[in-house]
Amino acid sequence: MRLLTSVLLAAAALQAQVGRKEPIPPRPPVDAQEIAQGKRLFDGHCAACHGPEGRGAQGPNLAVPDLTRARGAQALFLVIDLGIPGTEMPRGGQLHDSEIWKIAAYVESIGQADPEPLPGDPQAGKRLYAGKGNCAACHWLDGGGGRQGPELSGIGSRRSLAHLRQSLTDPAASVSADYLPVTAVVGGRRIRGIRLNEDPFTIQIRDSSDALLSVRKADLDALDKHKGESSMPPYGSVFSDAELDDLVSYLASLRRSR
Ligand code: HEC
Ligand code: HEC
Repeated sequence: MRLLTSVLLAAAALQAQVGRKEPIPPRPPVDAQEIAQGKRLFDGHCAACHGPEGRGAQGPNLAVPDLTRARGAQALFLVIDLGIPGTEMPRGGQLHDSEIWKIAAYVESIGQADPEPLPGDPQAGKRLYAGKGNCAACHWLDGGGGRQGPELSGIGSRRSLAHLRQSLTDPAASVSADYLPVTAVVGGRRIRGIRLNEDPFTIQIRDSSDALLSVRKADLDALDKHKGESSMPPYGSVFSDAELDDLVSYLASLRRSR
């Protein structure tokens, strides 16, 4: 299944590359004006997903020195023009080539900005992660952990401090479609978990003990999709403000090695 999905994604990516007929036009000089115009376009077209200053919201943090999906200016141009097929990153649509270069200049400029200062102590946060938070029950990190939630390796390169804090205090605020909580009832048995995949005839669920189940829809007694909910509990009342600062600092310190 996963293999099939990645083959399809690779095919889609290839198609997108042939999707641009004209060669990428030469890049205009990058100066303060180009960057300022790029910022205005970014605020209008991109900030809704990537957050103010590109520091991340439902889309990843772009204020990082190394964008894995857009290494180098030409690759960045193509990502903005064609989007990333199979993800929520849309095509540039009506953007003109010269506007794409302006946005690229702005995105590069925020990548060179200094990272935000950490609000707390990452070492204390690491202890809370392993101890009181029991976060590893659901999250994969450094080669171990659960699979109910997304892998957190390198999360500090992808997410802003504000997003990380909100993930802890209000997890339901932005749940990607990959983590839709579902309850299925099959033969009197209730299965609570995350929807991994679904087609007209079957649904695949990772249950709360991380087991993978594929259920024929014809066999379902009931299927509830908990849209707008997260299977991650809110931690705002579990931790003090200072502890939240420490935990956020620990997560922010988990950066992709370059
Ligand atoms: C509807 C939400 C949405 C909008 C609008 C959007 N993006 Fe994205 N973008 C995403 C998501 C989600 C990803 C992550 C895709 C993935 O790899 O899974 C992404 C990925 C990217 C990446 C690759 C990041 C990396 O780490 O390599 C870049 C660069 C990017 N977007 C730039 C932009 C720019 C510039 C705009 C505006 C022209 C924009 N995006 C508009 C959602 C969006
Ligand atoms: C019962 C399982 C569960 C537990 C326990 C749990 N999480 Fe999560 N977490 C999830 C799920 C599912 C998501 C994805 C849906 C969402 O964003 O709410 C998530 C999302 C996140 C995100 C957002 C990731 C992103 O890419 O935006 C962060 C950060 C996070 N969790 C950190 C933690 C930390 C730190 C702890 C411990 C204090 C923790 N989680 C405990 C299940 C869990």
